[in-house]
Amino acid sequence: MDTTIGQQTLPAELLHWGRRNRRDLPWRNTRDPWAVLVAEVMLQQTRADRVTERWPRFLARFPDVASCASASPAEVIAEWSGLGYNRRAVHLHRAAGVVMALHSGRIPTERTDLEALPGIGPYTARAIRAFAHEAEAAVVDTNVARILARWTGRCLTARAAQDLADQSVPAGQVWSWNQTLLDLGALTCTARIPDCEHCPLADRCVWRGEGSDPARGSAGVSGGQTPFEGSDRQGRGRLVASLGVGPVADGRLAEAMGWPGDTRRARRVVETLMADGLVVSCASGYALPGWESGT
Ligand code: ADE
Repeated sequence: MDTTIGQQTLPAELLHWGRRNRRDLPWRNTRDPWAVLVAEVMLQQTRADRVTERWPRFLARFPDVASCASASPAEVIAEWSGLGYNRRAVHLHRAAGVVMALHSGRIPTERTDLEALPGIGPYTARAIRAFAHEAEAAVVDTNVARILARWTGRCLTARAAQDLADQSVPAGQVWSWNQTLLDLGALTCTARIPDCEHCPLADRCVWRGEGSDPARGSAGVSGGQTPFEGSDRQGRGRLVASLGVGPVADGRLAEAMGWPGDTRRARRVVETLMADGLVVSCASGYALPGWESGT
């Protein structure tokens, strides 16, 4: 793997392609840092079409940091339920608490402050900086990492991909540049069937769809999610959805998780939910944390 690719930069003309082809996604019409932060946390592991449905609903319920911080964890988890990876809701609720306590309710702009918030890693911190604050930051998700590997024809380390992306951001265009690259990866330079014929980078791309794909094995290029059907994740999601309505008795646990008769599996998996702060045990069985004080 290459660790450096010198002073190469992507061509700034990509912005023309972006102007004509960028998707009109709802979270792109705001710079409100809380709204952007919520969108970015949702987009970490949920498809954009699903986020399009759920992001406005979440913000209608929790329009600002203060409303989220003062809600019970149960209310935030119940509102999140269905988006998957529900641990994100616990982190989001805790992050709102930290922003109230340490930043007077304002989402920080510095990367170190953002990364200190629960559930916010380097990628999401950069995305918040670029899309809410329009601060210099190159956002390298799996789509962007794939473009960079193919364009250079190299299997890149995360560091090399980030350096190349950082060098490429045209001055004053941080917002539209990053949105353009995300969409080029999502719409044209796709993982399985790239549309090289309509790609604005085709004449300068080393790979151009021929031979082995340098994006395979590059850092930050995901191999996709494991199957959901029949997984522990599915049972976790079912229980959290059920607990959004009210507590579940111990004797109904396996059924609520979709595994009637398999109490051992249900008990093992509910332990992981409790360790993640998503579920607590209560007198009547299991509940979302703070359920009594919430809904
Ligand atoms: N627009 C803003 N952030 C995005 C993201 N993470 N994925 C797709 N589109 C976005």
